[in-house]
Amino acid sequence: MLSLVDLSKRFPGACGEPVRAVDGVSLSVAPGELLALYGPSGSGKTTLMMLIAALLRADSGQVIFDGRDISALSARQAARYRLLELGFVRQSPNLIAGADALDNAALKLMAADIGAREARRRIRPLLDRLGLHERALHRPEQLSTGERQRVMIARALSTDPKLVLADEPTGSLDSRRSGEVLSLLSSLCKDRGVAVVLVTHDPQAAAYAGRVHTLRDGRLVDDGDERAAVPGNAA
Ligand SMILES: Nc1ncnc2c1ncn2[C@@H]1O[C@H](COP(=O)(O)OP(=O)(O)O)[C@@H](O)[C@H]1O
Ligand SMILES: [Mg+2]
Repeated sequence: MLSLVDLSKRFPGACGEPVRAVDGVSLSVAPGELLALYGPSGSGKTTLMMLIAALLRADSGQVIFDGRDISALSARQAARYRLLELGFVRQSPNLIAGADALDNAALKLMAADIGAREARRRIRPLLDRLGLHERALHRPEQLSTGERQRVMIARALSTDPKLVLADEPTGSLDSRRSGEVLSLLSSLCKDRGVAVVLVTHDPQAAAYAGRVHTLRDGRLVDDGDERAAVPGNAA
Protein backbone atom coordinates (compact mmCIF):
# COMPACT_ATOMS: atom_id res chain seq x y z
CA MET A 1 0.00 0.00 0.00
CA LEU A 2 2.62 2.52 1.17
CA SER A 3 6.40 2.24 1.00
CA LEU A 4 8.89 4.86 2.02
CA VAL A 5 12.31 4.28 0.51
CA ASP A 6 15.30 6.03 2.05
CA LEU A 7 13.32 9.23 2.39
CA SER A 8 15.10 12.44 3.41
CA LYS A 9 14.09 16.06 3.87
CA ARG A 10 16.31 18.88 5.11
CA PHE A 11 15.36 22.41 6.07
CA PRO A 12 17.72 25.36 6.22
CA GLY A 13 18.73 25.74 9.87
CA ALA A 14 19.19 28.94 11.84
CA CYS A 15 22.99 28.60 12.13
CA GLY A 16 23.71 27.66 8.52
CA GLU A 17 23.74 23.96 9.32
CA PRO A 18 20.70 22.27 7.66
CA VAL A 19 18.19 20.52 9.88
CA ARG A 20 17.76 16.90 8.84
CA ALA A 21 14.04 16.72 9.61
CA VAL A 22 13.66 13.29 7.96
CA ASP A 23 16.85 11.37 7.46
CA GLY A 24 16.86 8.16 5.46
CA VAL A 25 13.52 6.69 6.55
CA SER A 26 12.40 3.41 4.98
CA LEU A 27 9.23 1.64 6.01
CA SER A 28 6.17 -0.08 4.57
CA VAL A 29 2.53 -0.14 5.62
CA ALA A 30 0.19 -2.87 4.40
CA PRO A 31 -3.57 -2.59 3.82
CA GLY A 32 -5.40 -3.18 7.09
CA GLU A 33 -2.37 -2.24 9.16
CA LEU A 34 -2.27 0.38 11.90
CA LEU A 35 1.22 1.69 12.44
CA ALA A 36 1.94 4.04 15.32
CA LEU A 37 4.76 6.52 15.09
CA TYR A 38 6.26 7.77 18.33
CA GLY A 39 8.94 10.35 18.83
CA PRO A 40 9.73 13.48 20.81
CA SER A 41 8.80 16.90 19.55
CA GLY A 42 10.99 17.90 16.62
CA SER A 43 11.82 14.31 15.65
CA GLY A 44 10.34 14.71 12.16
CA LYS A 45 6.91 13.11 12.52
CA THR A 46 4.92 15.93 10.93
CA THR A 47 7.49 16.38 8.14
CA LEU A 48 7.20 12.68 7.38
CA MET A 49 3.39 12.96 7.17
CA MET A 50 3.68 16.00 4.86
CA LEU A 51 6.00 14.04 2.57
CA ILE A 52 3.55 11.12 2.41
CA ALA A 53 0.72 13.59 1.70
CA ALA A 54 2.73 15.17 -1.13
CA LEU A 55 2.53 18.54 0.62
CA LEU A 56 6.31 18.60 0.78
CA ARG A 57 8.78 17.24 -1.72
CA ALA A 58 11.58 14.99 -0.48
CA ASP A 59 15.22 15.87 -1.18
CA SER A 60 15.86 12.23 -1.90
CA GLY A 61 14.12 8.87 -1.63
CA GLN A 62 10.63 7.86 -2.65
CA VAL A 63 7.07 7.62 -1.40
CA ILE A 64 5.37 4.77 -3.24
CA PHE A 65 1.60 4.57 -2.84
CA ASP A 66 -0.27 1.78 -4.62
CA GLY A 67 2.66 1.35 -6.99
CA ARG A 68 2.93 5.06 -7.87
CA ASP A 69 5.75 7.41 -6.96
CA ILE A 70 3.98 10.25 -5.16
CA SER A 71 6.81 12.72 -5.72
CA ALA A 72 6.32 12.38 -9.48
CA LEU A 73 2.71 13.63 -9.31
CA SER A 74 1.82 17.03 -10.72
CA ALA A 75 0.29 19.53 -8.31
CA ARG A 76 -3.13 18.69 -9.71
CA GLN A 77 -2.63 14.93 -9.39
CA ALA A 78 -1.32 15.40 -5.85
CA ALA A 79 -4.46 17.36 -4.94
CA ARG A 80 -6.64 14.53 -6.27
CA TYR A 81 -4.57 11.97 -4.41
CA ARG A 82 -5.15 13.91 -1.18
CA LEU A 83 -8.83 14.36 -1.93
CA LEU A 84 -9.78 10.84 -2.95
CA GLU A 85 -7.20 8.37 -1.71
CA LEU A 86 -5.80 9.91 1.42
CA GLY A 87 -7.33 10.94 4.70
CA PHE A 88 -5.02 13.37 6.45
CA VAL A 89 -5.85 14.50 9.96
CA ARG A 90 -3.52 17.47 10.37
CA GLN A 91 -2.02 18.35 13.70
CA SER A 92 -3.88 21.65 13.94
CA PRO A 93 -7.57 21.88 13.08
CA ASN A 94 -8.32 23.88 9.97
CA LEU A 95 -12.02 24.62 10.04
CA ILE A 96 -13.99 27.26 8.20
CA ALA A 97 -15.24 29.91 10.60
CA GLY A 98 -18.98 30.47 10.38
CA ALA A 99 -19.72 27.07 8.76
CA ASP A 100 -21.33 24.42 10.93
CA ALA A 101 -19.74 21.09 11.83
CA LEU A 102 -21.70 19.28 9.11
CA ASP A 103 -20.45 21.56 6.34
CA ASN A 104 -16.94 21.58 7.72
CA ALA A 105 -16.85 17.80 7.87
CA ALA A 106 -18.49 17.48 4.43
CA LEU A 107 -15.95 19.75 2.74
CA LYS A 108 -13.96 16.99 1.03
CA LEU A 109 -17.13 15.30 -0.22
CA MET A 110 -18.27 18.60 -1.70
CA ALA A 111 -14.84 19.13 -3.27
CA ALA A 112 -15.28 15.68 -4.80
CA ASP A 113 -18.38 17.01 -6.60
CA ILE A 114 -20.99 15.51 -4.32
CA GLY A 115 -23.86 17.95 -3.88
CA ALA A 116 -24.05 19.82 -0.57
CA ARG A 117 -27.26 18.12 0.52
CA GLU A 118 -26.01 14.63 -0.20
CA ALA A 119 -22.62 15.41 1.34
CA ARG A 120 -24.31 16.55 4.55
CA ARG A 121 -26.45 13.39 4.58
CA ARG A 122 -23.41 11.15 4.11
CA ILE A 123 -21.30 12.79 6.77
CA ARG A 124 -23.95 12.52 9.51
CA PRO A 125 -23.25 8.92 10.62
CA LEU A 126 -19.55 9.67 10.89
CA LEU A 127 -20.19 12.71 13.09
CA ASP A 128 -22.53 10.60 15.23
CA ARG A 129 -19.89 7.92 15.52
CA LEU A 130 -17.40 10.54 16.69
CA GLY A 131 -19.77 11.74 19.39
CA LEU A 132 -20.75 14.95 17.59
CA HIS A 133 -24.44 14.22 17.13
CA GLU A 134 -25.48 17.17 19.28
CA ARG A 135 -22.85 19.42 17.73
CA ALA A 136 -23.65 18.97 14.04
CA LEU A 137 -25.11 22.47 13.65
CA HIS A 138 -22.52 24.23 15.79
CA ARG A 139 -19.90 26.46 14.25
CA PRO A 140 -16.18 26.02 15.05
CA GLU A 141 -16.22 28.95 17.44
CA GLN A 142 -18.92 27.13 19.45
CA LEU A 143 -16.93 23.90 19.64
CA SER A 144 -14.25 22.77 22.07
CA THR A 145 -10.75 21.98 20.81
CA GLY A 146 -11.47 18.27 21.04
CA GLU A 147 -14.74 18.65 19.14
CA ARG A 148 -12.96 20.58 16.38
CA GLN A 149 -10.37 17.85 16.20
CA ARG A 150 -13.14 15.28 15.73
CA VAL A 151 -14.74 17.32 12.94
CA MET A 152 -11.35 17.22 11.19
CA ILE A 153 -11.24 13.46 11.67
CA ALA A 154 -14.72 13.09 10.14
CA ARG A 155 -13.61 15.22 7.17
CA ALA A 156 -10.46 13.13 6.68
CA LEU A 157 -12.39 9.86 6.73
CA SER A 158 -15.35 11.07 4.66
CA THR A 159 -14.10 9.97 1.24
CA ASP A 160 -13.31 6.38 2.34
CA PRO A 161 -9.56 6.81 1.88
CA LYS A 162 -7.28 3.82 1.46
CA LEU A 163 -4.61 5.43 3.58
CA VAL A 164 -5.19 7.53 6.68
CA LEU A 165 -2.49 9.75 8.16
CA ALA A 166 -3.36 11.00 11.60
CA ASP A 167 -0.98 13.49 13.22
CA GLU A 168 -1.68 13.37 16.95
CA PRO A 169 -5.44 13.03 16.41
CA THR A 170 -6.11 12.40 20.08
CA GLY A 171 -3.89 15.22 21.33
CA SER A 172 -6.79 17.33 22.64
CA LEU A 173 -9.08 14.48 23.66
CA ASP A 174 -9.79 12.95 27.04
CA SER A 175 -9.18 9.24 27.39
CA ARG A 176 -12.77 8.23 26.59
CA ARG A 177 -12.83 10.28 23.36
CA SER A 178 -9.33 9.08 22.50
CA GLY A 179 -10.55 5.52 22.87
CA GLU A 180 -13.46 6.23 20.52
CA VAL A 181 -11.20 7.74 17.87
CA LEU A 182 -8.64 4.94 18.17
CA SER A 183 -11.27 2.23 17.94
CA LEU A 184 -12.80 3.96 14.91
CA LEU A 185 -9.38 4.01 13.21
CA SER A 186 -8.68 0.42 14.11
CA SER A 187 -12.08 -0.73 12.85
CA LEU A 188 -11.36 0.99 9.51
CA CYS A 189 -8.23 -1.14 9.32
CA LYS A 190 -9.94 -4.37 10.26
CA ASP A 191 -13.23 -3.95 8.42
CA ARG A 192 -12.18 -2.02 5.34
CA GLY A 193 -8.51 -2.82 4.93
CA VAL A 194 -7.51 0.82 5.35
CA ALA A 195 -3.86 1.48 6.19
CA VAL A 196 -3.35 3.94 9.05
CA VAL A 197 -0.23 5.80 10.12
CA LEU A 198 -0.86 7.29 13.53
CA VAL A 199 1.48 9.87 15.06
CA THR A 200 0.88 9.89 18.76
CA HIS A 201 2.21 10.46 22.26
CA ASP A 202 -0.74 8.56 23.67
CA PRO A 203 0.28 5.27 25.29
CA GLN A 204 -3.34 4.14 24.90
CA ALA A 205 -2.72 4.09 21.14
CA ALA A 206 -0.18 1.30 21.46
CA ALA A 207 -2.94 -1.12 22.36
CA TYR A 208 -4.49 -0.49 18.93
CA ALA A 209 -1.34 -0.46 16.83
CA GLY A 210 -0.03 -3.54 15.09
CA ARG A 211 3.40 -2.00 14.95
CA VAL A 212 5.12 0.89 16.65
CA HIS A 213 8.07 2.82 15.22
CA THR A 214 10.08 5.44 17.04
CA LEU A 215 11.59 8.45 15.28
CA ARG A 216 14.48 10.41 16.72
CA ASP A 217 16.26 13.23 14.89
CA GLY A 218 14.54 12.19 11.67
CA ARG A 219 15.65 8.57 11.85
CA LEU A 220 13.81 5.40 12.76
CA VAL A 221 15.54 4.05 15.80
CA ASP A 222 13.97 0.60 15.95
CA ASP A 223 12.76 -2.12 13.63
CA GLY A 224 9.12 -1.48 14.42
CA ASP A 225 8.47 -4.70 16.26
CA GLU A 226 9.30 -3.69 19.78
CA ARG A 227 5.82 -3.06 21.06
CA ALA A 228 6.86 -4.01 24.57
CA ALA A 229 9.15 -0.97 24.66
CA VAL A 230 6.18 1.41 24.60
CA PRO A 231 5.15 2.66 28.05
CA GLY A 232 1.63 1.69 28.99
CA ASN A 233 1.28 -0.86 26.22
CA ALA A 234 -1.70 -2.93 27.26
CA ALA A 235 -1.30 -5.68 24.67
N1 LIG B 1 9.09 24.47 7.36
C1 LIG B 1 10.18 24.27 8.12
N2 LIG B 1 11.25 25.07 8.05
C2 LIG B 1 12.35 24.86 8.80
N3 LIG B 1 12.47 23.86 9.70
C3 LIG B 1 11.42 23.03 9.83
C4 LIG B 1 10.22 23.18 9.07
N4 LIG B 1 9.35 22.19 9.42
C5 LIG B 1 9.97 21.47 10.35
N5 LIG B 1 11.21 21.96 10.61
C6 LIG B 1 12.20 21.40 11.56
O1 LIG B 1 12.32 20.01 11.28
C7 LIG B 1 12.39 19.25 12.48
C8 LIG B 1 11.24 18.25 12.51
O2 LIG B 1 10.01 18.95 12.71
P1 LIG B 1 8.59 18.23 12.72
O3 LIG B 1 8.52 17.34 11.54
O4 LIG B 1 7.56 19.27 12.87
O5 LIG B 1 8.71 17.34 14.03
P2 LIG B 1 7.57 16.69 14.98
O6 LIG B 1 6.29 16.66 14.21
O7 LIG B 1 8.10 15.34 15.32
O8 LIG B 1 7.49 17.58 16.20
C9 LIG B 1 12.41 20.25 13.60
O9 LIG B 1 13.75 20.53 13.94
C10 LIG B 1 11.73 21.47 12.99
O10 LIG B 1 12.17 22.65 13.61
MG1 LIG C 1 4.38 17.37 14.71
